[in-house]
Amino acid sequence: MSKANNFIGFFDSGVGGTSIWKEMIQILPNENTLYLADSANAPYGKKSKDEIIALSEKNTELLLNKNSKLIVVACNTATTNAIAHLRAKYQVPFIGIEPAIKPAALQTKTNKVGILATQGTLTSALFAKTSGEFAKDVKVVEQVGKGLVELIESGNMDTRKMEDLLIGYLNPMLTENIDYLILGCTHYPYLIPKIKKIIGQEVSIIDSGYAVSKQIKNILQQKNLLNTQSKRGTYRFYINTETSVLTNLLNELAFDVKIEKKVF
Ligand code: DGL
Repeated sequence: MSKANNFIGFFDSGVGGTSIWKEMIQILPNENTLYLADSANAPYGKKSKDEIIALSEKNTELLLNKNSKLIVVACNTATTNAIAHLRAKYQVPFIGIEPAIKPAALQTKTNKVGILATQGTLTSALFAKTSGEFAKDVKVVEQVGKGLVELIESGNMDTRKMEDLLIGYLNPMLTENIDYLILGCTHYPYLIPKIKKIIGQEVSIIDSGYAVSKQIKNILQQKNLLNTQSKRGTYRFYINTETSVLTNLLNELAFDVKIEKKVF
């Protein structure tokens, strides 16, 4: 069987990276994918760099054992803390996801942008480098999204607690007059309807899912690894906690996905 039929592997600290996966299958529906939701170890955002690297290695090795042809680090926290290490250690191509500072800095008219991300992402050297390079003339209002990932992972996304946390995090950004809000965590696109209610029409939301998906396509093309089968791919998900939260996030899809609970 040709290597092009192998999986594209995805991993995240939990269910959030499915926001990237959903974007990718829009433009690459024929790819076979294997997604690891490491929910037992969520959130990564509060862990040390060394812990994030160790978890990223564990996930990568499982995906390599399944012959993944490319690995998407569908987590800003793992990308900003571990992708350089992963690229140095493993042969497989990696695509990561980072907060979209550059497009926000290029488009802002108020010269103020907000970013909501995990502590691990906001304190990473890679984030400091990207902000220093692309946003040095722009005020970046940073906010750690404390508690948001935990509520999503525990199936408590649609709660008053979530709304209160979001209001507390976003109102100070509105006071600062931001006109772009960067979502720097792959869990947060699931909060967009709630975020929009708070920030209104004046502030645009930027997340990186579409850009990452185009990048995946480019790399597969360059490496001659695009799957040319004419049918929809097989979509597998492994999760190391109960499956219900993941199942709920995927049940809007009009095609089958295979979700398995596994120890990893
Ligand atoms: N989904 C992740 C991210 O993009 C990590 C959230 C977490 O585990 O803290 O940063």
